[in-house]
Formats: sequence, C-alpha cells, structure tokens
Amino acid sequence: MSTGKFHIHTFGCQMNAHDSEQMAQLLGEAGYVKTGDPEGADIIIINTCSVREKADQKVYSQLGRFKKLKQENPDLIIGVAGCLAQEQAAGFFRKATYLDLVIGTHNLHRLVKMIEEIKSGKSQIADTTFRRSVRSLGIRTLPSPGSVSAFVTIMQGCNNFCSYCIVPYVRGREESRQSADIMDEIRFLAENGIMEVTLLGQNVNSYGATLSEDVDFPELLGMINKIDGIDRIRFTTSHPKDLSGDLAACFADLDKVCEHIHLPVQSGSDYVLKKMKRGYTVGGYLEKVGMLRDACPGISITSDIIVGFPGEKEDDFQKTIDLMEEVRFDNTFSFRYCDRHGTASEGYDGKVEETVKQERLSRLQAIQERHSLEKNRYLEGSVKDVLVEGISKNDDTDIKGRTSGNKIVNFAGGADLIGKTVRVKIVRAHMHSLRGELL
Ligand code: SAH
Ligand code: SF4
Ligand code: F3S
Repeated sequence: MSTGKFHIHTFGCQMNAHDSEQMAQLLGEAGYVKTGDPEGADIIIINTCSVREKADQKVYSQLGRFKKLKQENPDLIIGVAGCLAQEQAAGFFRKATYLDLVIGTHNLHRLVKMIEEIKSGKSQIADTTFRRSVRSLGIRTLPSPGSVSAFVTIMQGCNNFCSYCIVPYVRGREESRQSADIMDEIRFLAENGIMEVTLLGQNVNSYGATLSEDVDFPELLGMINKIDGIDRIRFTTSHPKDLSGDLAACFADLDKVCEHIHLPVQSGSDYVLKKMKRGYTVGGYLEKVGMLRDACPGISITSDIIVGFPGEKEDDFQKTIDLMEEVRFDNTFSFRYCDRHGTASEGYDGKVEETVKQERLSRLQAIQERHSLEKNRYLEGSVKDVLVEGISKNDDTDIKGRTSGNKIVNFAGGADLIGKTVRVKIVRAHMHSLRGELL
C-alpha cells in the first residue's frame, strides 16, 4: 500500500466530476488519503475542461497556483486529467514544465500505475491513447457517508460533431455501457444508501446504439425504475434530435423518473441550427417540447444556448428570444460562442464581434431571469415532495433539498431529515431557489 495525501481539483461538467470521483476511488484503494487542502497534498490532480475558452483559462490559472506549491515541495506530483489534458497531450509539458503527469480521458484506470512510475524516477509521462473500450466506465465509487445522490456513467464520448464542439475530439467516439453492468452498479449504490441516480452521457437518448444487446434508453429507464431503494432517476444530456415518443412516455409511466429534462436547443434560428449541424429545426424542437408537456404537464425544461455563432445576425438572435418566449425555460445556461481548435466552425465566415456577443448574452440572460422567477412564482402555494440533501448553504438552521423538477428548496428542519423525502409547502419564490415550510 502507498502512503500520502492526494487532492483533486475539478473543472467542467458532471461527467468530469464523476471522473474525479473515480480517480479518488482508485487512489483511495491504493492507500492514498484524500485531502481538501492542496497545501498538504503529495499528489495534486487537476481534472480539466476545454469546452470553451474560459474553461481553458481557469485551468491555467489554477495550475499557476499549484506551481508555487511544487517550488516549495519538489516531491509533490502534479498531474492533469480530463478534456484539456486529452487535447494538449504531451504538449502540456511545454506549457507547464513542472507537470509530472498527463492522463487522457480514456486512461483513468492507469492512474495509480503512472504515479508509481513517477515515484520510481520517471519524469513527465503522458498517456492520451484512445481505446476502443473505456475501462474506467466500470469503476464503482463508494458513496461518501450521508450522500443521497450519485452519478452513473451510462455512455462515453459523442458521435454528433456539432460544428462548434470539441467534446467528440477529447472524449472520443460514443460507446454505451452494457445494461447489466449499469444495473449492478445502481444496485450497489442503493445498498450503500443512495436514493437518487443521475445517468450521465453526452447524448443519453442514443444509449444502446453501439451495443450488441437490444436495449434503448427508455428500456434502460424501465429497468432502473424497478430497482428497490432508488427513488429518483435523473439523466443528462438529452439531444433533441434523438428524443423519442417512448422517452416522453417515461415521464408519465415511470414513477421514479423526475419531472425535469435538460434539452439544449443552442439557437432559435433554423439557419444557425443548420450551420451548427444540430440535426433539428425550431419547429422540430417545439414539437418535442409539446410531446414532453403532453406526457408530463408540469415538467421543468432547462437548456443551453450559444449566442454569436458565426453568421448569427440580429434577426437570428431575435428568433432565439422568440423561442425562449414561447417555451419559457425553467433555466438556461448561455454562452458566447468561441472558436475551438479543430472544430468545423473554427473555419466559418461571419465571426461575430465580442461586444455584440456580450450585448446579446446580457439581453438573453435578463429575459431568462424574468422567466426563471415567473416559473418559480407559479409554484408558490403548491406542495412538493422534497428529497433532503443536506444543511443549507446560507443558514445552518435550514435544510435544503430538491423537488422532482430539480428546484432547490430551503426550509427549517433538522439534519435527521437528510436522505428522507418530505412534503413541503412552497411559500416564496426566488430566481434560483424556493423557500418552503415542512408539513
Ligand atoms: N452534450 C451536451 C453538451 C456538452 S457541452 C449537448 O449536446 O447538449 C455544454 C454546452 O457548452 C453546450 O450545450 C453548448 O451550449 C456549450 N458549448 C459547446 N461548445 C461551445 C463553443 N465552442 N462556444 C460556446 N459554447 C459552447
Ligand atoms: Fe458536443 Fe454536440 Fe456532442 Fe453535445 S451532442 S457533446 S454539443 S458534439
Ligand atoms: Fe468540459 Fe469535457 Fe465536460 S470539455 S464540458 S469536461 S466533456
């Protein structure tokens, strides 16, 4: 067994957050102890994201901070994992000469071995090989005591190649996990106190496409719905082009599937959607929203939107606003378009000026704030089932949990309720949370 402390710093999406949990599991099994404090660590891993320029910048500034620790302690091992590590590969050593380790998105299972190699004298090792089968998909993470919710990766990679997106280049081709393997992992989580699972994949709606077994995403949900001990099932992300009637029906027919879907639209202009290679039109998207709302009238719908895609005119942007007014999303994550190296849109004409992008983003966000508040106000006076997750951030006499529609509710209550589902009356709406009273 090894001794020493490790610290993992994570950027990026839930997929990366789960990869960090898996790395922590592997290091823990090898005898290392986790620390939240990078200053006392013997190993620091930065799990990186490269989806947008801002994500890159955050990673580099964090690395700069850890470099100082290495100057004080030359035995400190610093590694990078995740999507930026995959993108830069061994080139990362030129950008950060003090780095010891670069580990790509398909190679997490090699982490401990690579650390041992560094300890026995090797320097600057990188492994960013793409593998046909990603071994780390099956690494089970034991939930930390008291946690009620866990991530489960059901597929890796993406085959969609939306023209702006780097994910297929840094995560590789789409690969689904065997359903039996997923079921075993969820049973294991349920036995260890988990009540809610979030199924992860870049495009969960195409789950099963790469498997020899005959199973699709709605069928997988049906199987998970039968697992004792699991109360809630969430998933992300759904691609609108692959959302089927069968999936919409799951929101009506499967009692554990939560009333929330993250359905990134990206733009409300058919011209822009086509250039983004998204594979649907505004009309098609609205039809899917209608289908979801027919199956589950109160469903929360959240989305991602990019402003200032190459060639986006004021008129195209206005169509995005029109779409928002029509759908009225519960929340959106909105971004200024930025070029990503190697993607198709990097070479597109009609790049939009930064000031114009910023101005459009501000307008869009103001509208979303209005919609988010309006959606939350609509819930005032209603009674909701809330799964209690922990103590509130702002007031430690309060507890917090989530509704099935993924709204955070704060209310007075004791820590003994953590992990329980309770009835709560919604008394006040804020933009990003609700205030409730325990019934
Ligand atoms: N698989 C998910 C999204 C992954 S990336 C999906 O298909 O929806 C998360 C979000 O980042 C995307 O939905 C998109 O809105 C945004 N994004 C991706 N590449 C971007 C780029 N080059 N510029 C700006 N935003 C981008
Ligand atoms: Fe990127 Fe498109 Fe794949 Fe989502 S579906 S990860 S946006 S390429
Ligand atoms: Fe970022 Fe990679 Fe996720 S690029 S958004 S961490 S898949």
